[in-house]
Amino acid sequence: MQQLSVRHLLGIKDLTPADISLIFETADNFKEVLSRTIKKVPSLRDITIANVFFENSTRTRLSFELAEKRLSADVINFSASGSSVKKGETLLDTVNNILAMKVDMIVMRHASAGAPHFLSRHIKANIVNAGDGTHEHPTQALLDSFSIREKYGEVAGKKVAIIGDILHSRVALSNIFALKKLGAEVMVCGPITLLPRYISELGVKVELDVRKALAWCDVANVLRIQLERQQMKYFPSLREYTLYYGIDKKLLDSLDKEITIMHPGPINRGVELSSDAADSQHSIILNQVENGVAIRMAVLYLLASQVA
Ligand code: CP
Repeated sequence: MQQLSVRHLLGIKDLTPADISLIFETADNFKEVLSRTIKKVPSLRDITIANVFFENSTRTRLSFELAEKRLSADVINFSASGSSVKKGETLLDTVNNILAMKVDMIVMRHASAGAPHFLSRHIKANIVNAGDGTHEHPTQALLDSFSIREKYGEVAGKKVAIIGDILHSRVALSNIFALKKLGAEVMVCGPITLLPRYISELGVKVELDVRKALAWCDVANVLRIQLERQQMKYFPSLREYTLYYGIDKKLLDSLDKEITIMHPGPINRGVELSSDAADSQHSIILNQVENGVAIRMAVLYLLASQVA
């Protein structure tokens, strides 16, 4: 059986193109399973997985939990709010106590960049990064590229513009790594204050004008403004951001071309994306969410098979 080159999924940066292809081929099989009347397989029957979330989540958390249950794993869920973290327990003590209950894998979301990497140096269980601060969100990037592959047949050669708050986005960085490894052309677009200074060193085009970015790309992956991560004002007001960077159906129709709109969620409707664009025939946003379950099943299955 083919194996991943990594023991943990900490970031797309660590994956080879062959790893990503293996995840996609495995996800194709699980997507077929998910279309059956009985959507469950016994693959992880003897595995216990803890979903350890130190930050809020809707999609990622539910998607991992469903993926684990579809694979017949035993699942426990931990939220920092309402836990002994509030009494001062450290990350390592928290995770070691969870592992003492004979848990095999940890899926973790944490507000600090590098938290899962730190854990991987101290524990034996497999770790899946479900988003670490402004650093990486590897399963989001995998499901995004998988959705582009599903729409166009392949990712190589496609022009993908990532539009919005690039500076604070873990989705942007993971997407750049994944898309580049798969041979796509990548552009980032946003106000200059929301583009990291190092960004062009990652081999991406940089565009400040959203109309030019949309005119260039096959796929626009639109990101929300992450106000909760912003320590200062990066633009005068949300109203002004929407005026210059908001995407609506009128703008999409004016391009007079086929274009695919993606968004990792949660959408700030009426800010970066209008409802008529988010819900238009251009949008594959809910297909992304659907594909997230198959992608996470593939990641968990491939990591768990290394344990055996
Ligand atoms: N895309 C994403 O990570 O969404 P959640 O924060 O709801 O998990």
